[in-house]
Amino acid sequence: MTENANLVPFRQASGDAPPPAVVLRRVGRRFASHDALADIDLAIHVGERVAILGASGAGKSTLLSLINGSLPATSGDVEVFGTRLAGLPLARLRPLQRRIGIISQRLDLVDQVRVLHNINGGRLGRWSSVRALAALAWPHADTAAIDALERVGLAWAVHERTELLSGGERQRVAIARLLLQEPELVLADEPVSSLDPTRAAGILELLCAPARPITLVVSLHQPELARQHCTRAVGLRAGRLVFDLPADRLDDRVLNDLYTLT
Ligand SMILES: Nc1ncnc2c1ncn2[C@@H]1O[C@H](COP(=O)(O)OP(=O)(O)OP(=O)(O)O)[C@@H](O)[C@H]1O
Ligand SMILES: [Mg+2]
Repeated sequence: MTENANLVPFRQASGDAPPPAVVLRRVGRRFASHDALADIDLAIHVGERVAILGASGAGKSTLLSLINGSLPATSGDVEVFGTRLAGLPLARLRPLQRRIGIISQRLDLVDQVRVLHNINGGRLGRWSSVRALAALAWPHADTAAIDALERVGLAWAVHERTELLSGGERQRVAIARLLLQEPELVLADEPVSSLDPTRAAGILELLCAPARPITLVVSLHQPELARQHCTRAVGLRAGRLVFDLPADRLDDRVLNDLYTLT
């Protein structure tokens, strides 16, 4: 099924309009002889909240890694905030990546240190080297850190060793780290997979309604959360984009087609 893959058209930057947060043009990613993604055309505008849906192995994590620049595309072009990623020197890629907040499927937390250390990691890039080193040696639970933990219901855990937390609590530590980073673009890979339904809805509300408008690209296995919290839903099937719809148009037919095993 192809449900109008370009329902949200590319917009040309004109006048003072900011460029789209993300543009992918005929993007592909091949691993050995396997196409994890092929022919992806997608433009995501500032302030949109886009859910990426698809069965396991469909290419959701690969797509987020391409947008973050941590994985190069093997064909096509990826642009983030108007900058083409292909061939970008690290010195230019890093500042771009500092504008992007990531919740990876692996969470990327350091288990052996306290929660405060992990969430401070979200803002080290904005601090001077001296301040960052001091924060690593003598972590200080300032108001912003406590506030971020409070927002995910974990203020009590600020001095806990991260490895002692449950899977869902660890997922919320990663979200608190992201809130502290104050990114312009959030790439969240199944950020609520370990959470109960109430907590999952609360966390998505947090991601969708931060203090200032952000762009959110979130992979989800729960279409109802996409309907409730996102403006747009993109479906991937075996590495191909099969729909691109306003989230409130996700219905059973679209979802059955997406998840039916071939
Ligand atoms: N580094 C890699 N080397 C080889 N193959 C890879 C690599 N990363 C991903 N793949 C393959 O690419 C395809 C897409 O993987 P990806 O992780 O993007 O799927 P996904 O939609 O995120 O799945 P899930 O819902 O299980 O997280 C899979 O077939 C996977 O095996
Ligand atoms: Mg994945």
